[in-house]
Amino acid sequence: MKNVKSEALDSLSNLVALLVKDKALKKIVLSKPDASDEIKSVISPKLIANEYNLQIETFSKDNKAYHRNIKENFEKEIRLVFDNYSQINVISTVGECQFMRSKNGKETLIGDKKIKAKLSNGSFETVSENDNNKQKNYILSGNEDFLKKLGISDESGRIRDKMQAKFRQINKFVEHIESILDKLPKDNVNIYDLCCGKSYLSFAVYHYFKNVLKMNVQMICVDLKSDVIEYCSNVANRLGFDEMQFVCGDIIKYDMKLKPHLVISLHACDIATDIVLNKASENGADVILSTPCCHHELNHTINCEALSFVTKHSMLRQKMCDALTDSLRLLKLESEGYKVDALELIDPEDTPKNIMLRAIKKHNVSKDKLNELKEQYKNIKNFLLGNNA
Ligand SMILES: C[S@@+](CC[C@H](N)C(=O)[O-])C[C@H]1O[C@@H](n2cnc3c(N)ncnc32)[C@H](O)[C@@H]1O
Repeated sequence: MKNVKSEALDSLSNLVALLVKDKALKKIVLSKPDASDEIKSVISPKLIANEYNLQIETFSKDNKAYHRNIKENFEKEIRLVFDNYSQINVISTVGECQFMRSKNGKETLIGDKKIKAKLSNGSFETVSENDNNKQKNYILSGNEDFLKKLGISDESGRIRDKMQAKFRQINKFVEHIESILDKLPKDNVNIYDLCCGKSYLSFAVYHYFKNVLKMNVQMICVDLKSDVIEYCSNVANRLGFDEMQFVCGDIIKYDMKLKPHLVISLHACDIATDIVLNKASENGADVILSTPCCHHELNHTINCEALSFVTKHSMLRQKMCDALTDSLRLLKLESEGYKVDALELIDPEDTPKNIMLRAIKKHNVSKDKLNELKEQYKNIKNFLLGNNA
């Protein structure tokens, strides 16, 4: 990067540092780049592992986006980035300002004085970094070693194009875990990922507890496929993720030796999700987070005259059976003493398998209430399967 002498850019980077200090910066859009392979860059505040960062997202002409995060020396670092663009728009809660450099090198900066005056006046809104985190979850940034080893990001921390959806999925899943942390022990947490497959999620969750939250964690990941279990064990060894264990086997037969505080599962196929939920509940898991996969069982077995006006349309039959299956799963967990919710995992455009079933163990639930729910569950199943006669 070059270092161009420019009073206007010095003044602008100083203004950005003040906006950062006062948490009043919304974003900076940098256009008309010097580099011919770039389109633009956008800089915005992000909260990463609870630290204020500025994230620079650079868009290139080959449709790729590169990220870099800055967490200190904002004025100096930003000044270096500014050198490479001829138009810079700074948007803040206090107002907007614009820098422009014409072809013959003439520089103009407008709006900066008004912003400085308002900042020194002291009455302005601040930006919550969480506002940005609502759009994207930045618990994981892409730079983590495990993401590189698993091939989710490249050496520079850029998320590989074909892994973007998976990255958003695991990030969002970890965000759901963040929201139930108060339901788990403060330290020494036992976590199971049942039907872990390639274990992208398990690595992310382990990293989150061990490296971000600095907690002791035992993570046990189970799957039928011996090759993926072997591969994941090797990756865990290379990463030094010593408290991760990979077990090859059928989850139905798996004996949970450690008390499960948290059971997670992402896209366990068809009835494998039911096995996960049963196993977790039978072993008294404190929290269960499960995003089901495809459902087939009810679609094949439903036998309900009252619903034949739906079941005769195959697409609607499948959609109804999906909703009924997940609702029955939640009702069953509720009857076993859990507070249950159906949440959205991620943007529905990313995947149709997008429902997160969340169950949190309740204390002091009356036996009568549980029996009533068990009866309701049995009656609905009988109604759907035509066992009423
Ligand atoms: C669609 S993959 C999802 C893998 C991973 N959770 C993910 O989201 O990338 C489903 C996984 O469930 C595993 N599986 C299915 N039934 C199982 C069972 N009864 N016991 C253990 N693993 C099972 C499969 O081997 C497969 O790896």
